[in-house]
Amino acid sequence: MMDILLGLQWGDEGKGKIVDYISKNYKIVARFQGGPNAGHTIEFDGKKFVLHLVPSGIFRENTTNVIGNGVVFDPITFKQEVAEISQYVDVTKNLIISDKSHLILPTHKLLDAAQEKAKGKNKIGSTLRGIAPTYTDKISRNGLRTGDIFLSDFDENFKNHIEQHKKILDFYNYDYGDLDEVIADFFDAVAFLRNFKIENTAYWLNEQISNGKKLLAEGAQGTMLDIEFGTYPFVTSSNTVSSGACTGLGIAPDKVNKVYGIFKAYTTRVGAGPFPTELFDQNGQLLRKKGNEFGATTGRPRRCGWLDLVLLRYTTMINGVTDLIMTKADVLSGFEKIQVATEYIVDGKTTKQLPFNLDKTIPSYTNLAGWNEDLTQISEYENLPLTFKNYKKFVENYLKTPVSMISTGAERNKILKI
Ligand code: GDP
Ligand code: IMO
Ligand code: MG
Repeated sequence: MMDILLGLQWGDEGKGKIVDYISKNYKIVARFQGGPNAGHTIEFDGKKFVLHLVPSGIFRENTTNVIGNGVVFDPITFKQEVAEISQYVDVTKNLIISDKSHLILPTHKLLDAAQEKAKGKNKIGSTLRGIAPTYTDKISRNGLRTGDIFLSDFDENFKNHIEQHKKILDFYNYDYGDLDEVIADFFDAVAFLRNFKIENTAYWLNEQISNGKKLLAEGAQGTMLDIEFGTYPFVTSSNTVSSGACTGLGIAPDKVNKVYGIFKAYTTRVGAGPFPTELFDQNGQLLRKKGNEFGATTGRPRRCGWLDLVLLRYTTMINGVTDLIMTKADVLSGFEKIQVATEYIVDGKTTKQLPFNLDKTIPSYTNLAGWNEDLTQISEYENLPLTFKNYKKFVENYLKTPVSMISTGAERNKILKI
């Protein structure tokens, strides 16, 4: 069976922390979409890691990690990332990479920058990791895949791609300078990549499932960044939703068991695009400060706001969430009053549905009582303050879905199970 864990907001919900924690119960953890635009933070034993491509089950000795066909793979980032963690784990042993994952080439990153620049004030706020241009090449059937590195004409194919990309960069008048160094880095990284298991992971995964092994699919980004269902065009270029795990790994829908939907106890967004409950006042600043809301990949300050239940109702529905996981509950301590959006006002009318254009949306809030207790110091659910329990219950009632875990700190063990 396959369980899926994914973000219900705009990313950075704490997926890395939770996957690291629960992966002790899984034989396999697999990424199914996105690429190094992801930044998944894991903290244990006083150490902190930010993973971009390697799945968050990597620190569990008995868990095999898979980078699936739906992922866009950057050999250069991968080499750097492995260097950072290889002191702690032997990545060559417990990682398998799909031969069908698409390669992010150095020029994809330049194209990302050129296209963002051309958008001017409408820019998306991309992480500039080459995500959109690589998925564009995939969909237009021009991409290079990881399995291609073993073909005798790979070097020639690579050069043809670079030449094509240069023409597009010229169209944008983008000064790419001398590419020799970055191309040399790329080939170094490809040579390094050859040390890893690269295969048709769909066969491997399905065989493991047939043998009763438990698989956890690890989402990247969040549902509101999904190419279909997010705040288009301010989204990423992949299907971040639960159905993406089926196409991104080659697992049939009848194998899906639980869908864990992760949400922060409030809302954040990094990059441009609509955000109805965004706060521009002191409360917003307080959330950013207390939650240390700065991007794990780019270091950019995250935009902060209250919890949005209209949005969560939508993302819970799209994903078929069976279990909710609330993270960063500790950050909400100290607010006398906590607000949650329970309706939207669009063109003067109230609604519980997301409109076509989220820009025009005014949230309508319900006020709930806050709490002052430091939740990081509480290790049993029963001992949590009553007002927190009421907050949690309010969310569950609204979403008609149970919260099964609450995260109260960045450290691996700061988790309360219910
Ligand atoms: P991801 O992209 O969903 O994996 O999330 P990120 O790692 O980008 O961002 C989450 C941030 O919050 C990281 O700095 C985590 O270490 C931190 N974090 C995760 N869970 C908690 C929590 O329950 N409380 C607090 N205070 N921090 C948390
Ligand atoms: P994790 O997995 C938060 C945002 C970018 C930008 C938009 C498009 O850590 O939750 P892209 O680089 O994909 O072209 O950027 O999506 N974005 C993320 N925001 N968390 C992420 O990943 C993100 N990955 C992309 O900021 O607005
Ligand atoms: Mg992140």
